[in-house]
Amino acid sequence: MWAVLVSSQQINISYTMQDTITNAKKVAGEKAAELIRPGMVVGLGTGSTAYWAIQKIGSMVKQGLDIRAIATSEASARLAGDLGIPLTTFAATQHIDMDIDGADEISEKLDVIKGGGGALLREKIVAYHSRQLVIIADEHKYVPVLGKFPLAVEVIPFGWEITRVKLESLGCKPELRKKDGKIFITDNGNYIIDCAFGTIKDPAAVNAAIDDIPGVVESGLFVQMAHTVVLGFEDGSTKILQR
Ligand code: A5P
Repeated sequence: MWAVLVSSQQINISYTMQDTITNAKKVAGEKAAELIRPGMVVGLGTGSTAYWAIQKIGSMVKQGLDIRAIATSEASARLAGDLGIPLTTFAATQHIDMDIDGADEISEKLDVIKGGGGALLREKIVAYHSRQLVIIADEHKYVPVLGKFPLAVEVIPFGWEITRVKLESLGCKPELRKKDGKIFITDNGNYIIDCAFGTIKDPAAVNAAIDDIPGVVESGLFVQMAHTVVLGFEDGSTKILQR
């Protein structure tokens, strides 16, 4: 009986934690959306935090905000379409005013690991061409040093096995990403190799070494790309960090 009571208590506690983390993501996403100004071209990120920013942008558009957006994944494009956010492409525009996207880890220097959701390639293209990259995350993603979260690397399927060996030689434990027992395929038809480094002391050097390997399309390291970070806290408050 006692065991049952304890475990139901534990379940309740973990549900409560989950709710407060979701709330932290929500407040971060909504706060970042408030930075958008009429006429902007906006990058729409991917993931459970970007979801809240896109929801907020959708309600701002419904209230008359005039913007165009570029999505970083098929999933975010679908969500934006459902919410009536007008989408554009790089064929129609050559600049993005503000990109709002999530993160897996953010260092004190505002370097970022992304790609937990597998959208890192389009995310990096959109971020690179944005005048301002606003990273949104719950407080737990802010860490002293990057690397605890495995770094996603997008690779082409041809020769992925030897690409994996080369990634391992950089000092990580690389693992081909799978979903439901099958190889995970990105929106671009590629594979993801998740590289567990433990710690990444020099993100620029690691990013350059990874990019040098033939077969690698892009890494999820966003080095000195974020201009602004909006952190959401479990108590519902937010904090803005600038680089
Ligand atoms: C998508 O590929 C990722 O880069 C996400 O932006 C990142 O993993 C953060 O996702 P959550 O907001 O869902 O934690």
